[in-house]
Amino acid sequence: MKLFLDTAELSEIETAVGWGVIDGVTTNPSLIAKAGQDHETQVKRICGLVGNVSAECVTDKRDDLVVEGRRIAKWHPNVIVKVPLTPDGIAAGKVLASEGIRINVTLCFSVNQALLAAAIGAWCVSPFVGRLDDINEDGIRLIRDIVDAFRAGGVTTKVLSASIRHPLHVSQSALAGADIGTMPFKVLESMFKHPLTDKGLAQFAADYKKSQETRAAKS
Ligand code: G3P
Repeated sequence: MKLFLDTAELSEIETAVGWGVIDGVTTNPSLIAKAGQDHETQVKRICGLVGNVSAECVTDKRDDLVVEGRRIAKWHPNVIVKVPLTPDGIAAGKVLASEGIRINVTLCFSVNQALLAAAIGAWCVSPFVGRLDDINEDGIRLIRDIVDAFRAGGVTTKVLSASIRHPLHVSQSALAGADIGTMPFKVLESMFKHPLTDKGLAQFAADYKKSQETRAAKS
């Protein structure tokens, strides 16, 4: 599973790119608003740092979405245009995909919705794991079901596990067969953490220091 960051904060993206672990970034209007920057400017900046950058349309009618999607796609070759899983979003996505624009169909909460995204040849579909868990439904189960349905039908649309809230969601998404997992920076950071890594590192450092001191005392 490829790792993406779900953020519009440049400092977070720069740090993750420096670690060499991310293959893309997903943004949405809420994340752009949080970053306090102009949409186009910020998406272009992010595209300068990493490939596969999802930028979301904010209109809701088919023709408006087509115009907006074409405009967003021109911002940078790394851009993937996000459209919502509505009849207008799907219809607009179909037009945009047929023009060679990569589409991320967002706000997916069922296998049937995912099949609609696959039907238009979307580059990826984004099931929201955390928001399903929030309403006492099983978000990871949905990832597994979509992966199974896509495999059964030979679908090439990628399954992008979104609305990841904690490290367990990451490993569970990967085990469920998601192609991509997008997560907040704090979740990516938490993937490094294990108490035995810290303990082992402290032990190695202590042993090394002790051996150097013993050698110095002998010489
Ligand atoms: O980018 C969409 C998604 O990842 C949002 O996550 O935590 O707001 O449900 P969340």
